[in-house]
Amino acid sequence: MRAIVCEAWGGPDTLALREIADPVAGTGEVVVKIHAAGVNFPDVLIIQKKYQVQPALPFTPGAEIAGEIEAVGEGVAGFKVGDRVLALCSTGGFAEKIALNAHLCVPIPAQVPYDVAAGFMLAFCTAHHALIDRGGVASGDTVLVLGAAGGVGLASVEIAKARGATVIAAASSDAKLVICRERGADLTINYTTEDLRAAIKTHTEGRGLDIIVDPVGGAFAEPAFRSIAWRGRYLVIGFANGEIPSLPLNLPLLKGASIVGVFWGEFARREPARQIAMMQDLFEMLAERKIRPLISKTYRLEDARQALHDMAARQVTGKIVITP
Ligand SMILES: NC(=O)c1ccc[n+]([C@@H]2O[C@H](COP(=O)([O-])OP(=O)(O)OC[C@H]3O[C@@H](n4cnc5c(N)ncnc54)[C@H](OP(=O)(O)O)[C@@H]3O)[C@@H](O)[C@H]2O)c1
Repeated sequence: MRAIVCEAWGGPDTLALREIADPVAGTGEVVVKIHAAGVNFPDVLIIQKKYQVQPALPFTPGAEIAGEIEAVGEGVAGFKVGDRVLALCSTGGFAEKIALNAHLCVPIPAQVPYDVAAGFMLAFCTAHHALIDRGGVASGDTVLVLGAAGGVGLASVEIAKARGATVIAAASSDAKLVICRERGADLTINYTTEDLRAAIKTHTEGRGLDIIVDPVGGAFAEPAFRSIAWRGRYLVIGFANGEIPSLPLNLPLLKGASIVGVFWGEFARREPARQIAMMQDLFEMLAERKIRPLISKTYRLEDARQALHDMAARQVTGKIVITP
């Protein structure tokens, strides 16, 4: 089969398209024929040895996939050849096939196409866990989403809106903000051209923000936090900007506010029953069209390098996928 292989640490150009052996389903495993693989920011980091997970070389990047089961190993119950599944696989997704532990597979509802399924889990589970479980978003809250046109960002815009919040989307370009509005943002801030604090003050009529969703980090964290309302929640999701910000601890004291860590992968591992319930809720929201995941671009397997370049260069809106 064909697969993208990382043979040396480095940027996307170090990746190679190779012919490698087909995977075989071991005990408890299934082989999935991959129809689409979601591209995520950690894929850019993992090939540079800058991510918390550091696989041994050579490896195939690609953390989430959707496809159909082609073979079932011994001891697997609940899945059969032909089933449509999605899975978070950590690595191995940018390939034609993958062997996976069957318990990682989630059946895809009939009406959900493979490209949507492949880009769904990481972004929407993170946003759902962040806003609902960790942030306790409620109808009437005002939610600021930083990096709002990105994968986790746009999912957060949609989930906050579906829960009845007023959503302020903040991003680096007007084109990105148009997409945020199409996905439900009520108000927008272009943080390249506008002063973030002044714009938040205007948009909230001085009241401040109930929730801040931050998958970006860097220089906007402190001004955003200074604009938080009484009892506000600041959701720490990631540092796509590359810089882990620090906040003076008098700020949460003065607002009775909370800095709330969000680590969806660990949540899913430690609290599997709640993860299953969350996935169910997300599929229902999808069926009711309360959320409409944006797949902005599809790349061929041989163009995986370009997909990762685009992600690193902030060219991506919503989700992009690779279709082998
Ligand atoms: N904690 C968790 O459980 C969890 C789960 C999933 C992902 N994450 C993390 O969340 C972050 C976002 O992931 P994602 O998949 O949503 O990524 P994404 O689609 O690339 O979105 C990230 C956004 O960050 C902004 N950004 C600012 N500076 C950037 C830079 N130097 N390089 C790239 N983007 C930059 C961009 O928006 P603008 O151009 O508008 O500024 C971009 O749209 C990542 O750090 C990821 O590791 C955390």
